[in-house]
Amino acid sequence: APSSATAPSSVTAPEIHRGLAGVVVDTTEISTVIQETNSLTYRGYAVQDLAAHRSFEEVAYLLWHGELPDPAQLAAFQARERALRPLDRSTLELLTRLPDTCHPMDVLRTAVSFFGAEDPLEDDGTLAANRAKSLTLLAKLPTVVAADQRRRRGLAPIGPDPELGYAENFFHMCFGTVPEPEVVRCFEISLTLYAEHSFNASTFTARVVTSTLSDLYSAVTAAIGALKGPLHGGANEAVMHMLNEIGDPQRAGDWLDEALASKRKIMGFGHRVYKHGDSRVPIMQEALDRLVSRAADPEVTRLATLHAALRHAMVTRKGIHPNLDYSAGLAYHLMGFDIPVFTPIFVMSRITGWTAHITEQLSHNALIRPLASYDGHEQRPVPAAVSRV
Ligand code: ACO
Repeated sequence: APSSATAPSSVTAPEIHRGLAGVVVDTTEISTVIQETNSLTYRGYAVQDLAAHRSFEEVAYLLWHGELPDPAQLAAFQARERALRPLDRSTLELLTRLPDTCHPMDVLRTAVSFFGAEDPLEDDGTLAANRAKSLTLLAKLPTVVAADQRRRRGLAPIGPDPELGYAENFFHMCFGTVPEPEVVRCFEISLTLYAEHSFNASTFTARVVTSTLSDLYSAVTAAIGALKGPLHGGANEAVMHMLNEIGDPQRAGDWLDEALASKRKIMGFGHRVYKHGDSRVPIMQEALDRLVSRAADPEVTRLATLHAALRHAMVTRKGIHPNLDYSAGLAYHLMGFDIPVFTPIFVMSRITGWTAHITEQLSHNALIRPLASYDGHEQRPVPAAVSRV
């Protein structure tokens, strides 16, 4: 056996995967990106087919249960979701106490944490309890987002309407009206596309928290924090701020050259998994194009022209393609939502994927605890303490 004195030289330096890039940490049955065809599937179904033919509620059911619902299962699921939408008085009071200066993602994060604190089954991690909590969050989060947007506009909240579907009801709670079916459809497509994306940063965050056997609300609270960042879900808001900053479509190329020269990240472009274009973009872009073509408004034309010009400039200059946030951000603006609500809408959808992953993590749990290669000080003596008088 080698002596302990010679052992260190025979140890090879650990390979470091900064950002966990390229690291496969576990298996999942929920979704996958098929690189060869550049397509995303949920439980084996192509996301573009789900977006074209199924409602967001059916997609939520699919992600949680592994199969699409039959008509009776869907009716029961919708009835339960609709009954859970209203907020109790303590939650509404909590919302009014939060400062207007905080971001709506902070409101959502606080609300989920509060739901956990109020739930006597918070620490019950059984499948049945977690399914019930997941449905509660799916039902209540839109009510929180809508009430918060109205409060910021100086308006009283509008309660949910149990006669309306998930997407329609959200418009109703935000604006008091439901737009034309084409607009609702575009919104619903965005919800389906945002619902799930394997081990992305926020989902992985939820799995890390779950792996310690913490509760579902804690995992979702942490996931909301991860999604808020502009490199992840916060990008859909950042896209709109960027388009507003550029303003004139004629400026897109020059603006991009300056931004790239100063090493700025261009929001809504690039992706860790897709290097030749995000598989979800063509579907969302088509839905956005339909919104633009029905508007017949010079302001909408300007934004659509700018959006196309920047995309063209980025692809030709850098070969970096837009991600889902690029088209979803502009679509949400055209639907009338305030910019800070864009990432909370992402939460309303991704809550389905997060909670599917929480359940899956618990089904074959292993504590997630990676290693680090230490490059700090060598071990050194603690200096003698300075004597205190
Ligand atoms: N703008 C400018 N340059 C970019 C961009 C971008 N949006 N994306 C990638 N690049 C460049 C990088 O600067 C880097 O160049 P270099 O090799 O010369 O240093 C190269 O492309 C590789 O990029 P990385 O940042 O190493 O790729 P990574 O996989 O780590 O990053 C990320 C992916 C974070 C999404 C990145 O593309 C980015 O910051 N995009 C903007 C934010 C964004 O849109 N996020 C939404 C992601 S999708 C979602 O959450 C739904």
